[in-house]
Amino acid sequence: MTVLLSGRWSAAEGERWAQLLREAMPEEQWLLHPPRDAAEAAAVEVAVVANPEPGALSGLPNLRLIQSLWAGVDRLLQDPTLPVGVPLARMVDPAMNEAMVHTALWAVLSLHRRFFELQAQQRQALWQPPPQLRASECGVLVLGLGELGGRTAQALAGLGYTVHGWSRRPRELAGLRCWHGEAAEGGLASALAAADIVINLLPLTPQTRGFFSAERWAQMRPGACLVNLARGAHVDEAALAAALDRGHLRHAVLDVFQQEPLPPDHPFWPHPQVTVLPHCAAQTDPRTAVPQVRANLAALRAGQPLAHLVDRGQGY
Ligand code: NAP
Ligand code: GLV
Repeated sequence: MTVLLSGRWSAAEGERWAQLLREAMPEEQWLLHPPRDAAEAAAVEVAVVANPEPGALSGLPNLRLIQSLWAGVDRLLQDPTLPVGVPLARMVDPAMNEAMVHTALWAVLSLHRRFFELQAQQRQALWQPPPQLRASECGVLVLGLGELGGRTAQALAGLGYTVHGWSRRPRELAGLRCWHGEAAEGGLASALAAADIVINLLPLTPQTRGFFSAERWAQMRPGACLVNLARGAHVDEAALAAALDRGHLRHAVLDVFQQEPLPPDHPFWPHPQVTVLPHCAAQTDPRTAVPQVRANLAALRAGQPLAHLVDRGQGY
């Protein structure tokens, strides 16, 4: 099969992916540049993509599979030229799952034990031990209970935190109380009101865009913290800054932003109650992702079911 590799990445990153994919699947013809003519375009049956430029997948009449190297497919789905009717599979990478759990645990431990404040105190030579709450006295709400959120919620429950979770459909996960859907809005509101720390691991869809609005902050208890590890467009950043400035929220750990890279003059950079990460909570690890791509290409060739297909209607 001819496989088009297309991504928004540095030349070095692109070369690394190309090398690993070619080594793992020497039987495929790898096209590492946009098709140069109609014959090259017609040969392409699969596209392996990492947030390609809009339009990169149009004009491929024989495309049978789009395999994303990213877990979130929101940018792909926003491309109006994305071929309709072609199965779209997203990345579910065990190393990425593990990294996300680590980032979330670090954030929750740092917020619960006030390590960010202690870091700031060190710079002022302030010797001021904070109160020591037990994990069970700290309520954590995980929004999104999929590959990443589900694992994160269970890891936090394993450390003794009082964990609630929220998903679109009903879920049952050992160790936490699960809420779901719009009908449970009362449940979501009370879970938000009871949480000391809210972790966002929702996909970005028309339903979840702008989820963290001024009204949502008002539903959260005074002194609560936000950990956004999903997408910047989930958050009204101006409303977040206002909620932090007036002391309603204590701290925000933000890995994702409306504009990335975060502009140098963005008020979040110097904000004492904001911890900025450069969208690195959990990256795709080629060592574990390439075998996932290989398995899906083998399934396509054999006419077997494809793994991790996106429900385009739902947007994730
Ligand atoms: P996933 O497996 O598809 O899980 C998504 C979860 O969100 C599911 O539990 C789903 O509910 C729930 N959900 C979707 N729409 C909802 C709604 N309207 N209301 C309530 N719950 C809703 O996705 P994932 O692999 O965990 O990834 C989640 C997101 O993390 C990605 O989309 C991406 O944006 C982000 N991400 C960030 C990084 C990073 O480095 N910062 C890395 C990877 C991914 P159901 O269970 O009912 O389907
Ligand atoms: C990263 O944000 C991803 O969606 O893989």
